[in-house]
Amino acid sequence: MNVEELNKIARAMVAPGRGILAMDESHPTCNKRFEKLEIPTTEPMRRAYRDMLVTAPGLSDFISGAILFDETIRQKTLEEIPFAAHLGNLGIIPGIKVDAGAKPLAGYEAEKVTHGLDGLRERCEEYFDMGARFTKWRAVITIGEGLPSWACIEANAHALSRYARISQEAGLVPIVEPEVLMDGSHSIDRCYTVTELTQRIVFHHLKNQGVALEGMVLKPNMVISGTEASARANVNAVAEQTIRCLMNTVPAAVPGIAFLSGGQTDQEASAHLNAMNSSGRSLPWTLTFSYGRALQQTAMQVWKGDRANVLPAQQALLWRARCNGSAALGSYNEGMESQAA
Ligand code: 13P
Repeated sequence: MNVEELNKIARAMVAPGRGILAMDESHPTCNKRFEKLEIPTTEPMRRAYRDMLVTAPGLSDFISGAILFDETIRQKTLEEIPFAAHLGNLGIIPGIKVDAGAKPLAGYEAEKVTHGLDGLRERCEEYFDMGARFTKWRAVITIGEGLPSWACIEANAHALSRYARISQEAGLVPIVEPEVLMDGSHSIDRCYTVTELTQRIVFHHLKNQGVALEGMVLKPNMVISGTEASARANVNAVAEQTIRCLMNTVPAAVPGIAFLSGGQTDQEASAHLNAMNSSGRSLPWTLTFSYGRALQQTAMQVWKGDRANVLPAQQALLWRARCNGSAALGSYNEGMESQAA
C-alpha cells in the first residue's frame, strides 16, 4: 500500500474551492428520479444524462472528482470517449461506487447494512485498470424510536473499514460514507448524539483494520434537524454542531471531509458548508462537498431528457458547482443566488 500516493490523491480530491460530484446513483435511484420527470428509464437516457453532466464547460473549475456508477464507467460519452478518460482529460479524478447497496440487517429488519465485500478486491483492481482512483461505500443509519441499534452501527462500521482497507490496497482512495439519515422528526441534538457515536465507532474500526487515515476522505452527514422536526435548527447551529462533532471524532491525519447533501435544498447545502468554512475556526482538515442531489436536481429538472435542454441544464449544474465551490472557501453568500437568474 503506497500511503504517499493515496495521500496525494486524497488531497487533490479536497483541494481548496473544489468538491466532488456524486453521479453514482444506482439504477433504482436514477430510474426513480427519471420517472418523476417522465424521462424514459433506459440505458441510452442514463448515458445521455451523464454525458450532459460531464461535458458542462468549465466543470473542473469547481469539481475535483466525480463518482461514477458501474454502468457509467463502462460507457463512453456521446463523443465515444470512455467516461473515466474524459474526466481524467479535464483534470477531474474519476471515482467509482463499489458498494452493492444497503439491505435489511438480519435480526434488525428496520435497519440496513451495506453489502458488497464479496469479490471487492477483484472489482477494485478492475476499476483501477479502468482509470478510477477513488471509491465510495455508503452506509445508512436510521434514527427512530429505539434506533439506531448498536448492532447496526457496528455491522456498518466493520464493513466500511474492511472496504476501506481493500480499496487502499488496490491503490484507490476510499470515501468512507456513514450517513445518518435526515428522515424523521428528531432534533438536531439527537442527530448530534447518533452522528458522534457512529463516527467514533467507524474510526475505531478503521484503525483496527489498519486503514491509512492519510489516504481516505470522510463523507459524513451534517448534524442537522430531521426533515419533519417541528423546530428546525438554523444555519449557524448546523455549522457549529457539525464542527463540534467532527472535532470530537475525526483524527487530524484525515486530509479532508466532503459532505453529502442528504435531502437538503440546494441553497441549504451551500449555506451550511459556507457557514462552516467562514466560522473563523482553524480546522485540521479541508471541508468541502460531495453532493449528489444538491448539485444535480435542478439540472435534471431542466434537462427533462431533451437534447434541446442540454445547455441550460449544464448552466444549472455549473451554477450549483460555483456556489458550492465558493462555500468550500467560505465566500458564498445568498446574494449570489439572485445572479443565477
Ligand atoms: P446526496 O448529496 O444526494 O445525499 O448524495 C450523495 C451521495 O453520494 C449519497 O451516497
